[in-house]
Amino acid sequence: MRTTVGIIGGGPAGLLLARLLHTAGIDCVVLENRTRDYVEQRQRAGILEQGTVDALRACGAGARMDAEGLVHDGIELRFDRQSHRVDFPAATGGRSVMVYAQTEVVKDLIALQLAEGPPLFFQARALAVEKPESDRPVVRFSHGGREQTLECDYVIGCDGFHGIARAAIPAAVRRTYERSYPYSWLGILADVPPSCDELIYARGAGGFALHSMRSPTVSRFYLQVPNGTDPADWPDERIWDELDRRFAVDGGRRLARGPVTAKSVTPMRSHVTEPMRYGRLFLAGDAAHIVPPTGAKGLNLAVSDVRVLARAFEHHRRTGSAELLDGYSDVCLRRVWQATRFSYDMTTMLHSRPDDDAFDERVHLARLHRLAASGPATAELAENYTGLPLEEIG
Ligand code: APR
Ligand code: PHB
Repeated sequence: MRTTVGIIGGGPAGLLLARLLHTAGIDCVVLENRTRDYVEQRQRAGILEQGTVDALRACGAGARMDAEGLVHDGIELRFDRQSHRVDFPAATGGRSVMVYAQTEVVKDLIALQLAEGPPLFFQARALAVEKPESDRPVVRFSHGGREQTLECDYVIGCDGFHGIARAAIPAAVRRTYERSYPYSWLGILADVPPSCDELIYARGAGGFALHSMRSPTVSRFYLQVPNGTDPADWPDERIWDELDRRFAVDGGRRLARGPVTAKSVTPMRSHVTEPMRYGRLFLAGDAAHIVPPTGAKGLNLAVSDVRVLARAFEHHRRTGSAELLDGYSDVCLRRVWQATRFSYDMTTMLHSRPDDDAFDERVHLARLHRLAASGPATAELAENYTGLPLEEIG
């Protein structure tokens, strides 16, 4: 098989890139290891920055998002038994976010791609990227029980954190920067209307908790738990009691409870691989970087990577200049490090470390009180949360 751009991975990064290239008239093929059903059911985050919303609309993938997504103009912070609202449009000159689950974005992009092309193969597992430094890189993959090759002008590794593309950058060139955090998130889905209109991020007694939502009838919650926690140790009653304890504010109400339909534990990690390009191999999304989910940046970073990349391919096709392709890694990494910093700040501000003492606790609370009291500190959070504009990264 032969194509211009070979894309490994059919998550949000690979699918949106394929859509953007297709609309620019550039031919590509997507190889996805898993089944369609698996990819469409995988539970992930659900906050879309303004720029992500705009990009999905512009490529024709925004209709269901606009019908079913919930526009949110702020979040609530809870700490010290108090509540503080961050008003996004007021602090950012009009920006907001959309609550629309990543699984739904993926379903919309898959439906479009299967209807209009370019080719998308499920259960097609990339085994290796060969000759990335040549002008004819090759992806070896297995599909339908046999090994095949995809010859490309360019290969894009959109194959997530556990993919194979990153390893094709020689170890002598590749640098990784990592941080693991001494806590995980226990995530649950519950068939109960949200007990709030906007997301609540709490630094409560016993640690962090987040109240999010999927729809007017489905709520999503997260609780900070120790690394290595078994979800089986958290029966439903224990989860609800702990959520109530962490969200407690003076004069507040208990959460509405309902049937818990899913439970899972996710470790928290930051990871950045540099450079994001080697020869004719480019990395995008989780293949190149992971952030802890506290800032809701993972999906949005994947989307901004592929927007930058699609624009570079389109420029190359129109002008013959490789300038934007050459600048891809530097441009993306500036944004990646801003999101890495923001996610790190949000995470450390809102979680308790097992070795924190009373002094640490007071300092974290002082940061939160400052945030609530200062316009510039609130604006800094709001600008980063709603997404820094694609062009304006320092
Ligand atoms: N061959 C083909 N496909 C592969 C291979 C492989 N060897 N390895 C992994 N994949 C596929 C995975 O099955 C997955 O569908 O690559 C896809 C990567 O998708 P994601 O992990 O969703 O990563 P990305 O598209 O970069 O999206 C980033 O996902 O993890 C979240 O928080 C993250 O929201 C962010 C988003
Ligand atoms: C989610 O809805 O899953 C979600 C929302 C905000 C976050 C992380 C996850 O920061």
